[in-house]
Amino acid sequence: MNDSKHKEQEQTTSELYGSLFTAYDQKRFDESVELFNMRHTRWGIPLEWFHGKTCLDAGCGGGRFVVALAKLGAERVEGVDISEEAITAAQERIKERGLEHRAHVRVGSVLDVPFPDQSFEYVVCSGVVHHTPDPKKGFNELVRVLKPGGKFFFSVYGKGGLVWMINDIGRLIAKVIPFKIMEGLWKVIGIPPNKRYNYLDNMYVPYCYRYTEKEIRTWLEDAGFENIRRVKFERYDYETLKSHFFHGEGWLQFYADKKANS
Ligand SMILES: C[S@@+](CC[C@H](N)C(=O)[O-])C[C@H]1O[C@@H](n2cnc3c(N)ncnc32)[C@H](O)[C@@H]1O
Repeated sequence: MNDSKHKEQEQTTSELYGSLFTAYDQKRFDESVELFNMRHTRWGIPLEWFHGKTCLDAGCGGGRFVVALAKLGAERVEGVDISEEAITAAQERIKERGLEHRAHVRVGSVLDVPFPDQSFEYVVCSGVVHHTPDPKKGFNELVRVLKPGGKFFFSVYGKGGLVWMINDIGRLIAKVIPFKIMEGLWKVIGIPPNKRYNYLDNMYVPYCYRYTEKEIRTWLEDAGFENIRRVKFERYDYETLKSHFFHGEGWLQFYADKKANS
């Protein structure tokens, strides 16, 4: 695929997420911020760790993790996303919560992260690189801006399972029903924004790569990470045959530390 086609696809991705994220009301946004704390507590990652840290959220969307990190007392939080609309929404949410002194967001790509090498002690990139034309390049960019000894939270889609098969039928339907019409229909029948976001994005987003756990572990090992740990997503149990049948490899979420000497 040539560069202008990629640019067109990025524009589609950017508009899609802009539309999905700006639909969140304050209550739902605050719930999504709170999820960060709940999940980290469940995973045994102390929330105090974030205090005083420099953090990047690459592909920050509407800014839920940026706000969560700033509220946890991170010294500086930067967010980047290719969607101008999502960034405008994130900026408003930061301002409304009085966090502008420590949280900043801007339009930018994970494929060319607009910060110097080793800028951050914490980098999160959740559900983003698989929606780009070159996920591995995005991963390498994240590694580049993370300081040695820094902490990395990285999530991508796992391969396989019935849910993806159904989704891929949805992707065929998406070729004939434009996003705006489908989104309008879902609104009319009362499907809330978080549910629309969970399903419609994967039907309409141009790039939707999926991986095995082994592939992502290899990326992390080869890039010089240690303490590589898959953290579980509450919606799947990962252990049973039934869960594999429905969700395949599941949601691949990892915490890992960049080796101090890397
Ligand atoms: C599934 S959403 C996840 C958002 C956020 N990480 C969260 O968990 O709420 C994917 C996000 O990636 C962004 N995105 C897609 N391609 C990108 C790129 N090349 N650079 C930066 N952001 C990108 C989209 O605009 C969207 O906001």
